[in-house]
Amino acid sequence: MSNYHIKHLEEYYKVYRKSVREPEVFWEEIAEEHFSWHKKWDKVLEWDFKKPEIKWYQGAKLNITENCIDRHLRTKGDKVAILFEPNNPEEEAQHITYHQLHERVNKFANVLKNEGIKKGDRVCIYLPMIPELAVSLLACARIGAIHSVVFAGFSATALSTRINDSDCKVVITSDGSFRGNKTIDLKGIVDEALEDCPGVHSVLVVNRIDSEITMKEGRDKLLQPLLDNASSHCEPEIMDAEDPLFILYTSGSTGKPKGMVHTTAGYMVYTAYTFKNVFNYKDDDIYWCTADIGWITGHSYIVYGPLANGATTVMFEGVPSHPDYGRFWEVVEKHKITQFYTAPTAIRALAKEKLEYIDKYDLSSLKVLGSVGEPINEEAWHWYNDNIGKKKSPIVDTWWQTETGGILISPIPYVTPTIPTYATLPLPGIQPCLMDENGEEIKGKQVDGRLCIKYPWPSIARTIWGNHQRYKETYFSTYENNYFTGDGALRDTVGYYRITGRVDDVIIVSGHNLGTAPIEDAINEHPAVAESAIVGFPHDVKGNALYGYVILKETGEGRLHENLRKEINQMITEHIGPIAKLDKIQFTPGLPKTRSGKIMRRILRKIACNETDNLGDTSTLLNPEVVQTIIDNSF
Ligand code: PRX
Repeated sequence: MSNYHIKHLEEYYKVYRKSVREPEVFWEEIAEEHFSWHKKWDKVLEWDFKKPEIKWYQGAKLNITENCIDRHLRTKGDKVAILFEPNNPEEEAQHITYHQLHERVNKFANVLKNEGIKKGDRVCIYLPMIPELAVSLLACARIGAIHSVVFAGFSATALSTRINDSDCKVVITSDGSFRGNKTIDLKGIVDEALEDCPGVHSVLVVNRIDSEITMKEGRDKLLQPLLDNASSHCEPEIMDAEDPLFILYTSGSTGKPKGMVHTTAGYMVYTAYTFKNVFNYKDDDIYWCTADIGWITGHSYIVYGPLANGATTVMFEGVPSHPDYGRFWEVVEKHKITQFYTAPTAIRALAKEKLEYIDKYDLSSLKVLGSVGEPINEEAWHWYNDNIGKKKSPIVDTWWQTETGGILISPIPYVTPTIPTYATLPLPGIQPCLMDENGEEIKGKQVDGRLCIKYPWPSIARTIWGNHQRYKETYFSTYENNYFTGDGALRDTVGYYRITGRVDDVIIVSGHNLGTAPIEDAINEHPAVAESAIVGFPHDVKGNALYGYVILKETGEGRLHENLRKEINQMITEHIGPIAKLDKIQFTPGLPKTRSGKIMRRILRKIACNETDNLGDTSTLLNPEVVQTIIDNSF
């Protein structure tokens, strides 16, 4: 019998040791006992981190939607699968049962088929947090199409880059979206993006906000009439274990976004297993993750992980501040939420508001609180623990990445004793290690280094779409035979891990992963800009904010600078999206550079953080004199 649900600490250690000693036996038992397969695997795992090549459950045949929907119909058909809470609290919530989800996914899958979509084709999804978003992912998976969801806060340029990179044939979008008291014209953004996307032959449009939109003849179609005419039976495509399930883009420290490719069987097994354990999920629970499905957290822990367990998963369309700062807690009371999973940036923003927003509501249904996306600082952890969990709900600080597919390091609630700011212990099957700058493993306790994982787990991304070489260079070349996470971490005396943050040029702002290079590229497009460099600095709500150093082609002053700051942020909004806007922009005559012409970001980071006492040796710079000028003019 596999230990699918770990219930106490001794059991955790026992299971963990087994998962390291006999990883294949461990993952084979879980796959066998908890999922349905058309054919079992020939081999559990084959891997080589040098190539790199990773294959789980090779030879197995399955369809993930049968595991997420069909197999629950007999016992849980009338159970709510997706509970949709709209942006406007006056609008009624929707309770979509497993039966209804089955019908909606089948119909949608048939619509895609009628559009000519076949197994292996890529479909881009650009939708707000409405039920059609989850349904469209599952509809793609039903017919073996590869979905590529683009977060509906990205700009037209960012959208077209992603559509073209993976050569999507169809885009699924809506007329617009509601966000607090605003609406956003999504269809307009898609139209603009598609001017540069010759490969897209059709656009399916969900009506959400009843806005006037232009429909391009022959390309754009309203979804609802197509659904009305579609059959509610769609035979699931039988997929190989290693067939791609989806592509999801994440920022890199250089170049264009990386389309991380996740495959079918391993991803399913790992997200389901971790969902069950990390959230201590039980049958009657109502689980709510506030993330957007546009990010990996939504893919794994709103859609696939919960549905594979037959859970009720909440989809929330709104924002925490609308109609007021009590919205999250109102929803917790209304739907009697048992697990609540959110990001530190949301916690910090809400912690600034009055406690009355919380005290009005009954939060006694809560059993587990989760945190994800960035380090949670001690103050936010305590606020969450005291005011939301009332010191009774364990907090699971879950560390993972788009690339890892599922949670790798996290407490198991009611099992692992928690310590604020520690993600604590690796989940079964995960073998973390810390490396020094020379590539040697740092053994022992109370040490810190760069976080790597030694051994594959089922949901590791298999490649970067169209660029396996980049996959190899980014993750497997820094430390031989190890997956390099890009994060720093420390390990304490009991073996707990604390994630200290990125060690590369990725900056996490409000839980969003932003590479500095694409932002610099966007700024440099401005005709007045000669060069720029972006660094992060601490921000009390966002965790980090962005500080830009900009060299202008011609110097100017005062009002001109103010206008330029606005234009630069406008440029970033157009190329990436408002999430990447800079908080501070300093115009400078130069940037500190090494003799080989590389910008010394370490120095810029210290200046942005007001840590100018200890800048280290600057004498080897090409232009050491510029450092003092930058300090004198810094914010
Ligand atoms: O730096 C780590 C941070 O977020 C990065 C991954 O970002 P992304 O791929 O967008 O996925 C976010 C959601 C899984 C990591 O490299 N990060 C994520 N969770 C934590 C974290 N940092 C500290 N503590 C966490 N719990």
